[in-house]
Amino acid sequence: MYAQVINTGSDRVRRIDEMSAEEQAFMERIENGEKIEPKEWMPEGYRKTLIRQIGQHAHSEVVGQLPEGNWITRAPTLERKAILLAKVQDEAGHGLYLYCAAETLGVSRDELIELLNSGKMKYSSIFNYPTLNWADIGAVGWLVDGAAIMNQVPLQRTSYGPYSRAMIRICKEESFHQRQGYDIMMKMCAGSPEQKAMAQDALNRFWYPALMMFGPSDKDSVHSAQSMAWKIKINTNDELRQKFVDQTVPQAEYLGLTVPDEHLKWNEERGAYDFSEPDWSEFFDVIAGNGPCNKERLGARVKAWDDGAWFREGLAVNAQKKQTKQRKQA
Ligand code: 3HC
Repeated sequence: MYAQVINTGSDRVRRIDEMSAEEQAFMERIENGEKIEPKEWMPEGYRKTLIRQIGQHAHSEVVGQLPEGNWITRAPTLERKAILLAKVQDEAGHGLYLYCAAETLGVSRDELIELLNSGKMKYSSIFNYPTLNWADIGAVGWLVDGAAIMNQVPLQRTSYGPYSRAMIRICKEESFHQRQGYDIMMKMCAGSPEQKAMAQDALNRFWYPALMMFGPSDKDSVHSAQSMAWKIKINTNDELRQKFVDQTVPQAEYLGLTVPDEHLKWNEERGAYDFSEPDWSEFFDVIAGNGPCNKERLGARVKAWDDGAWFREGLAVNAQKKQTKQRKQA
């Protein structure tokens, strides 16, 4: 089954005359804003699209722990260390809510992890970039969690009930993450000239990868149209990218930092910023596995999975023993 949730290729929005009566009734529910729940009828494509998106999202939360976990032992103060530790733990929790939401669609967590570990399923491109110094932890919280929130707030209204409910909790925690990142940036920018230069350098390196998090431009997005018809996605990739730029540029100005885009300009007519697109060839290269840290990230996940095998086996044996005991007592 799960081979079918990856590499789905280009989606074509289904026309009403192609739909069975069941599918038409389903679409009516979607259009009325009803939530779809696990045991209810849903088109196969809807289920697969959700498994793909929720699975990739869960993997992103888990892989996203790596670039920040790398700085827990080197955080500059005890307070910063405690905050970072809490944030990284939150990301593990987000991964768990999302794997659970995916499980309600008939795929197990082990199957999804196997797809991640074998490189068959994606996770967010952003986590294939390195965190070189402490300012990067600020930039990740500010920009990466900021972009994640921009994408995930609308997903609280996604049509699949368990995903929508997971997103409500996740968004609350992501707001704290974004604030802690911005707080680091404020401290760095109010510090020595060297610290401010580190903050600028972090912004320079994370700006375009953060813009890439929203996915390819709308003309190249293969899933958006059908996902939006199913209200799995609420906005297009470009809409959210624009909102992110409009929200983030004033925040950079407040810090006294310069967004690394010479074409960035407020467009009075549109009431929005004009900005440069990221280098899409770099994006496609990174999601094909050739980013600066892809091998390191996947290697770390595979090692963690292999190292934890004894524990999972122990749990399974213990659960089996309990079941046998309960059966004997019954
Ligand atoms: N990184 C990796 N792959 C990406 C990507 C990105 N930034 N953006 C798009 N892609 C992939 C898609 O998965 C798809 O590949 P596939 O067909 O093999 O599955 C392909 O590129 C084409 O893109 P589409 O626009 O057609 O794909 P979607 O309609 O799925 O849109 C998305 C992409 C906007 C990322 C959407 O899937 C989405 O909203 N996902 C939920 C949010 C999510 O996954 N966020 C992860 C961010 S990190 C995070 O939350 C951790 C936090 O702690 C910071």
